[in-house]
Amino acid sequence: MKGKILGIDIGGSGVKGAIVDVSRGEFVGERLRIPTPATHTPAAILDCIGSIISAFNYSGKIGCGFPGVIRSQIIETAANIGGKNFIGVNLAEMIGLNYGCEAWLLNDADAAGMAEMRYGAGKDVNGVVAVLTVGTGIGVSMFVGGRLVPNLEFGHLKMRDKKTGRNIDAEKLYSDAARKRVDMSWKTWASGFSKFLKYFHSLTRPDLIIIGGGVASKSDKFLKYLEVDCDIKIAQLQNRAGIIGAAYCASTSIK
Ligand code: BGC
Repeated sequence: MKGKILGIDIGGSGVKGAIVDVSRGEFVGERLRIPTPATHTPAAILDCIGSIISAFNYSGKIGCGFPGVIRSQIIETAANIGGKNFIGVNLAEMIGLNYGCEAWLLNDADAAGMAEMRYGAGKDVNGVVAVLTVGTGIGVSMFVGGRLVPNLEFGHLKMRDKKTGRNIDAEKLYSDAARKRVDMSWKTWASGFSKFLKYFHSLTRPDLIIIGGGVASKSDKFLKYLEVDCDIKIAQLQNRAGIIGAAYCASTSIK
């Protein structure tokens, strides 16, 4: 299985995995999704990862995207999954100890961004590129001349909630989960999300914004309503990017 790495995307609603051919950035076979257990503990997530490893009968390097800040392999934040349960945890080490596979953990949006830059909508694009993943939260990765600036966390920019007048995390207002929670029309969502895009753009000035995550497959419903003074592309790898990028990063980070 040379060049074939197990990529895992840990999310608030599902833990997803697939074997990735990292030379092409493509899945080898099917993707497996296990609903994230409601307990949201490291042990519960570890069990899901164990089930994915067994289902693929896999041994080798594993790349894992996680929805939080990861520095030196330690989880520093976990807003949408488990909160304090994960802080200070070295999940990669736990995977190694429990399943004998060497693992590499990185932020999920950074993983998705790496995949888009290497194999997808950002391939061969220079300059400053932002890749946004819009799903349970809003993840942001940015690249300068193809190099990642990790752990940016712009989904937590504070924006005004019209209903309460309070300033809250942008992702609480404009993620796909927020849209689904109140059954918002795509037009209404796009007008709110545009406010986030404009705010983000005013602070970072990228040359290109790539929009990925769960909403990427619905771009026909919202792209026409987006307003921001920046080039926009829809992610090519769509919601496969997190898995593909995690596998790619493991292949380059674990020697
Ligand atoms: C987290 C980010 C993550 C994003 C998308 C946010 O709540 O803080 O680290 O990339 O969700 O999952």
